[in-house]
Amino acid sequence: MKIAVLRETAAGERRVAASPETVRKFIALGAQVAVETGAGAQASVSDADYEAVGATLGDRAATLSGAGIILCVQGPEPASIGGATPGALLVGGLNPFGERARVDGYAAAGVQALAMEFMPRITRAQSMDILSSQSNLAGYKAVLDAAAEYGKCFPMMMTAAGTVSAARVFVMGVGVAGLQAIATARRLGAQVSATDVRAATKEQIESLGAKPVFVEKVAGIEGEGSGGYATEMSPEYQKAQAELVSSHLAKQDIVITTALIPGRPAPRLISDAQLATMKPGSVIVDLAVEQGGNVEGAVAGEIVEKHGVKIVGHRNVPSRLAADASALFARNLYNFLSAYWDKEANAPDLPDDDEIVQGVRLTLDGKVVNARLLG
Ligand code: NAI
Repeated sequence: MKIAVLRETAAGERRVAASPETVRKFIALGAQVAVETGAGAQASVSDADYEAVGATLGDRAATLSGAGIILCVQGPEPASIGGATPGALLVGGLNPFGERARVDGYAAAGVQALAMEFMPRITRAQSMDILSSQSNLAGYKAVLDAAAEYGKCFPMMMTAAGTVSAARVFVMGVGVAGLQAIATARRLGAQVSATDVRAATKEQIESLGAKPVFVEKVAGIEGEGSGGYATEMSPEYQKAQAELVSSHLAKQDIVITTALIPGRPAPRLISDAQLATMKPGSVIVDLAVEQGGNVEGAVAGEIVEKHGVKIVGHRNVPSRLAADASALFARNLYNFLSAYWDKEANAPDLPDDDEIVQGVRLTLDGKVVNARLLG
């Protein structure tokens, strides 16, 4: 089995889908690995690093030629992956809702596309979950990005010249990214509070030493849909949440928003009117900016200032930590493929009735087969 590792071509994408560690492990499984020249350059991995563990390096045509598995961070254009064997597996973050036409292209090209962001949220799949590994890093980086834009300190400091007060940090949306943001802000010495629609997060917030800010006694507080994800809330709940958050926001220095609802635009959590009540010099980092944004006025790829408040809207935050993000992403892909590796066939065997396979498989035998895309 030949595995091809592509050099990413999307603007601003610095990550790579295989690390020297995972290349070595794939070779130990019995595979050959071909890496496109320069694939790791922006993630601090040189061509020589891949060669040293047994990969061959070449241009895209040579990399793809005869490959049965193609690894990528973001989905490539279907026309750019010719030369692989018929039925080759394309494994990566394929953005199936955002790049729906490409999915049809993969089907037409006879590729079996496997979208790792559709990994079911089950215990067995935790080590294969790219959303978790990348969100964790994004939550950490969001706090550092906020600190870099903020003109004051995070920790309280007692100096001979007087006391500097601790920053107040409010985290909205306490999934994987939000939990890491809380932990990071606490480590920097901030006073941290957090909110979510899922009641289960209250205890998690407290266990990290932060203060939960929650709507109480309104129908729908459970807020939890299938697979541990959030659901859209009732108008009554949204109103109560807006009132509670308004008074809290006005006292904050830093706000990190991470709220997402799968398959829907990000919920709007901060309006322009609420921004106007915040202290000048405050900083908001909107991690949901690429899904429509949690903050009114946030712009993807920009830092904008409204009412004296900076709104940071970096795209692709995991890519800003490309080396670590790539190492974790690469392990997620290796953990997935190795779990299904059939030693005798020297190839993965993906059973049709397997929950993980059904979750991630987008195309098979020339057709789109994923229930989330067909339903
Ligand atoms: P996400 O990225 O989809 O959303 C981020 C957070 O925003 C969630 O906590 C969500 O409840 C919250 N949110 C949505 N609407 C909101 C609103 N209007 N106001 C405030 N907050 C709002 O979530 P993520 O990080 O992917 O995690 C979701 C859940 O999945 C968590 O419980 C996590 O522990 C679980 N999980 C399970 C895994 C497994 O078992 N394999 C792997 C990863 C996560």
